[in-house]
Amino acid sequence: MTVTCPPKPPVYITTPIYYVNDQPHVGHAYTSVAADVLARFRRLDGHPVRFLTGTDEHGQKVQRSAEKAGEKEQAFVDRVSERFRTLTRDLHCAPDDFIRTTEPRHRQAVTFLWQTLQEKGWLFRGTYAGWYAVRDEAFYQEGELVHGKAPTGADVEWVEEDSWFFRLSAFQQPLLDFYRQNPGWVGPEGRMQELVSFVSSGLKDLSVSRGAFSWGIPVPGDEGQVVYVWMDALTNYIAALGYPAATPAMADFWPGAVHLMGKDILRFHGVYWPAFLMAAGLPLPRRLFAHGWWTRDGQKMSKSLGNVVDPAVWISHYGADAFRWFLIRHVPFGQDGDFSAESFQHRYVCDLAHDWGNLVQRVLSFVVRHQGGQIPPVHDLTPRDKELLDLGPGILQQVRTWMDQTALHRYPETVWTLVREANRYVDEQKPWALRTTDPARMATVLGVLGRVIVQIAVLLQPLMPVSSQKVLDMLAVPEDSRTFATLEGGVVCPGPVGGEVTPLFPARDGPATPVQQA
Ligand code: MSP
Repeated sequence: MTVTCPPKPPVYITTPIYYVNDQPHVGHAYTSVAADVLARFRRLDGHPVRFLTGTDEHGQKVQRSAEKAGEKEQAFVDRVSERFRTLTRDLHCAPDDFIRTTEPRHRQAVTFLWQTLQEKGWLFRGTYAGWYAVRDEAFYQEGELVHGKAPTGADVEWVEEDSWFFRLSAFQQPLLDFYRQNPGWVGPEGRMQELVSFVSSGLKDLSVSRGAFSWGIPVPGDEGQVVYVWMDALTNYIAALGYPAATPAMADFWPGAVHLMGKDILRFHGVYWPAFLMAAGLPLPRRLFAHGWWTRDGQKMSKSLGNVVDPAVWISHYGADAFRWFLIRHVPFGQDGDFSAESFQHRYVCDLAHDWGNLVQRVLSFVVRHQGGQIPPVHDLTPRDKELLDLGPGILQQVRTWMDQTALHRYPETVWTLVREANRYVDEQKPWALRTTDPARMATVLGVLGRVIVQIAVLLQPLMPVSSQKVLDMLAVPEDSRTFATLEGGVVCPGPVGGEVTPLFPARDGPATPVQQA
């Protein structure tokens, strides 16, 4: 009788779609890398995965940026969107789709959602008089302002215009009921309380169209108005699955949706989005996770301070893997963190070059020199050998738990217990000394280490795809043996070490120009 495991549930992972008003910075890279780590992990673990990212191209902020650049809106968004696509590639993120809100498929979805809300009686015409922050593309109430600015520090403008409203007030109780019934819906713990407080303090109907400018999706049947950019943008998550068509992607992936975002935009995802979905009769995403905010050397990043971290600088200097490693390893996912050249360099040298790079280097070059590049078979395993070889599957199990909790920073930390153990094993077994005293034992020690290096490289693929692939290629591990199922099913016997063993993370000083160029 063959036992088949039940199929793993589909997972849909999204980043926010990025505004194309400016060039990408570390904040954008952070959400993309986090989402990519999660997506790659789930894929290797046998889940069907869809990973979506893209660009948010409408609204007053983008229109003003195009004007400032002296370009037509479409030409401007085409150009800037391309930069985000390039960043995605440079980061070695592998999304299944990249959506742009100026695409016809997106416009159709927004138009249909609008019509649905209108047919169901959730929209009405009124007059908005209040504060608006173009930088945040958000409305603020008088009481929310701090010293005449938005709570985010953005400038506000007084807006008085006819617009369409969404009956958000009707969703106050349904949202509170939903939060109560799904306490784990938002991570990290504590963030849910923010939503509960905001909604409990009273929801006003939301202005969902603007008439003062034209760069947006026209309101169906009212061409003088464009759809509010947040209603437009949030719809990307279902537009990319084919909505309004009842596609298999919508049926399979939407229930498994996990939205990642920065804490500054949790309110839009945790209040407005579920209200729109409830109003349209659509199911809600499975989970939201709001990560923290990066500062630079303890200061808020801003163009005027000239201290914005440009991902391209760090990637070209240290490589995408090191940049990904730093972002995920350095800061507990969900908390704020500080980006400094010193801490980056420290992690590069200590974690990557020293712990992991050296392990690979010293074991594999020894194998090349003394075993003709062949990872030897293992014989007469000692309890210590077995203990080391058995660590990998347990670590995978632990990491799964962390990923279920979106505790991404725990992932590298946990894999490092194996890296450290392997280094300790080399030091205590001393294969170089065994070469003369007990060559058979030396062969087994190298065999154990080769297998453990494969396990580590397999485990590290979602975090550092480039260097892991390099190690797995050197050891000639077949493509289909690089999944978590093979790691759990028994250690893959690594093939020959091909060619010269070059350092995974060569020595580097910090970059000369660590700030973003205009
Ligand atoms: N377009 C909206 C999202 C619409 S999603 C339906 C938007 N775009 S954004 O480009 O301004 O921001 C995108 C992401 O970058 C947000 O998750 C935001 O939190 C993140 N970050 C921007 N600056 C950041 C830091 N300094 N640190 C960490 N992340 C920050 O909002």
